[in-house]
Amino acid sequence: MVDVILGMQWGDEGKGKIVDYFAPRYDIIARFQGGPNAGHTLYVNGKKIVLHQIPSGIFHQNTINIIGNGVVLDPVTLKRECDAVAAFGIDVKKNLFISERTNIIVPTHRALDKASEMQKGDSKIGSTLKGIGPAYMDKTGRNALRVGDVLQKNFTTEYIRLRLKHQKLLDNFHFVEDIGAWEEEFFEALEFLKTLNVVNGEYFIHEKIRDGKKVLAEGAQGSMLDIDFGTFPFVTSSNTISAGVCTGLGVSPRMIGEVMGVTKAYCTRVGGGPFPTELENETGELIRKTGSEFGATTGRPRRCGWIDLVALKYAAMLNGVTQMIMTKADVLDGFSDLEMCTAYKINGRETKELPYQMNGITIEPVLKNFAGWNTPTVHCREAAQLPEKMKTYISFINEYVGAPVKVVSNGPEREQIVHL
Ligand code: GDP
Ligand code: IMO
Ligand code: MG
Repeated sequence: MVDVILGMQWGDEGKGKIVDYFAPRYDIIARFQGGPNAGHTLYVNGKKIVLHQIPSGIFHQNTINIIGNGVVLDPVTLKRECDAVAAFGIDVKKNLFISERTNIIVPTHRALDKASEMQKGDSKIGSTLKGIGPAYMDKTGRNALRVGDVLQKNFTTEYIRLRLKHQKLLDNFHFVEDIGAWEEEFFEALEFLKTLNVVNGEYFIHEKIRDGKKVLAEGAQGSMLDIDFGTFPFVTSSNTISAGVCTGLGVSPRMIGEVMGVTKAYCTRVGGGPFPTELENETGELIRKTGSEFGATTGRPRRCGWIDLVALKYAAMLNGVTQMIMTKADVLDGFSDLEMCTAYKINGRETKELPYQMNGITIEPVLKNFAGWNTPTVHCREAAQLPEKMKTYISFINEYVGAPVKVVSNGPEREQIVHL
């Protein structure tokens, strides 16, 4: 069986910490989409590490970690990450496996990402500039290079072919930056990539499943950034929802078991695009400060607001969420008043459905007030220790969304977790 942990909001829900926590219950942790745009923060023996492409099970010696075919992989970032992980005494050559179908991000993808954002000006997506969009475009455009190709003799010829194609596009954008240094580190990183375990990912996973092994698929980004169902065009370029697990790993829908949706107790978004519950005031500032809401990949300040139940219920529906995990509950510890968005008001009409286009229209959130618990919770380890007011807050979410919060995370460390 394949269980799934994924984000229900606009990313950064705390998936990395949660996957690391659940990893000992699984034999395999597999990333199925996204790439170095992700930043998954883990605390290992009190030390912080941010993973971008390596699955968050890497710190568990007996866990196999797979980078699936649905990922777009930047070899340069991967090499850096492997070095960072090695400093913790982890040998990636032992428990990291990469699908030969995984698409590669080349330096010109990063250049194209930058050029495209620059051209968009004020309407830019606010991409992480990691080359994600252009890399997925080359996949659907059937031009991409894949990890398996790196091992082939004609790789350099194929690389040059793609680079020439990209150069024409870059010329159109009037992009003149020299990317020579990027290319140098790219080819160095490819040599390193060749020393890692490259496998036929779909057979590899199926053999393990046949042997009774348990797989946990780790999502990147969040459901509201999904290319089909997110706040288009302010989205990422992959299917971040549970359906992406099937295409991103090569497993059938019948193999999907639990779908665990991660949500913050409030909501954040980094980059451009609609965000109905955003608080552009002191309260938003307080959440950002208390929750250290700054991007793990780009360092950008995250936009903060109240939890959005309309979007959360939508995400539960799209993903088939069987249970929720609520993170960063402790960030709200100091608040005496909390709000939740229970509907959107658009043109004077109330709706509980997400409009297909949220951009360019005014969405007023209908807010329901809740009494804050206004007491420290970071020390809580059992449900009985959690304040009643937090339980009331959670009960309302459960009822509205139609899936229960089963786990509350109350701090960034592994042991700061409470099962309900
Ligand atoms: P991801 O991309 O979903 O893995 O999330 P990020 O790592 O980008 O952002 C989550 C941030 O919140 C990280 O800095 C985590 O260390 C931190 N974090 C995770 N869970 C909790 C929690 O329950 N409480 C607090 N205070 N911080 C948390
Ligand atoms: P994790 O896995 C939050 C956002 C970017 C931008 C949009 C498109 O850490 O939750 P892209 O580089 O993908 O073309 O950017 O998506 N974005 C994320 N926001 N968390 C992430 O990943 C994100 N990955 C991309 O900020 O708005
Ligand atoms: Mg993140």
